[in-house]
Amino acid sequence: MIKKCLFPAAGYGTRFLPATKAMPKEMLPIVNKPLIQYGVEEALEAGLTEISMVTGRGKRSLEDHFDISYELEQQIRDTDKEKYLTGIRRLINECTFAYTRQVEMKGLGHAILTAQPLIGDEAFAVVLADDLCLNLEGDGVLTQMVKLYNQFRCSIVAIQEVPAEETHKYGVIAGEMIRDDIYRVNSMVEKPKPEDAPSNLAIIGRYILTPDIFDIIKDTPPGKGGEIQITDALMKQAQNGCVLAYKFKGQRFDCGGAEGYIDATNFCFENFYKAGKVS
Ligand code: G1P
Repeated sequence: MIKKCLFPAAGYGTRFLPATKAMPKEMLPIVNKPLIQYGVEEALEAGLTEISMVTGRGKRSLEDHFDISYELEQQIRDTDKEKYLTGIRRLINECTFAYTRQVEMKGLGHAILTAQPLIGDEAFAVVLADDLCLNLEGDGVLTQMVKLYNQFRCSIVAIQEVPAEETHKYGVIAGEMIRDDIYRVNSMVEKPKPEDAPSNLAIIGRYILTPDIFDIIKDTPPGKGGEIQITDALMKQAQNGCVLAYKFKGQRFDCGGAEGYIDATNFCFENFYKAGKVS
């Protein structure tokens, strides 16, 4: 049973400057709720109650968000504002939170390795909170992936098709199709130019990783951008065993940039906020 979900949240959020100069990008609100809260809700829905976060300098508000603010609670007790805190109170009650810091920014692979003491020797999920994933029709994306893991017991990456000219923004996979929505990965490249991309199937920020990934990351040299890439480590894992890529059901918004952020805001305003789901 997977219980742990890791949120690498040490990045600078440079695509959203100056908003992210003194505030973590994971705290950017989509309507009235920060991105990180959507991510933790998705984890809890999937039964992942042990939340780990890799933070960094200037990211303390993430920890404060998942804690009780006694002054605030006192202020709004028995007022109509209490409804706004129902969601976050539930997360605080039902999940545990553990934090560690990434002291140097050496890439997503390195951030994940930094969390090894929090994760230990068990399979775990990874959520990049600026990829907001929503599925109005049924199971959330992590729930879908946990179900697949229980069947296949190997690392899984979430994928979606992207236009060829956008492959340079993503890890891109190629593989053998074993079901109409599942590929067994045999190639994986971090942020390739369109002409070097093995397909148009892009990795989005949801992973399930088996714990042998930690030793693989330790042996993974810096790749694209001089950073230790999880994509490179997963490629090695795929060569020696099995990594699956899963075309998830639902919608994904790239909230690390203005366009996806605005789309997500409009979507959540229409589907949640206007419908009275304010927490
Ligand atoms: C990271 C990964 C990349 C993946 C992307 C999904 O890149 O390195 O493989 O496709 O997340 O959002 P980043 O967006 O952090 O540069």
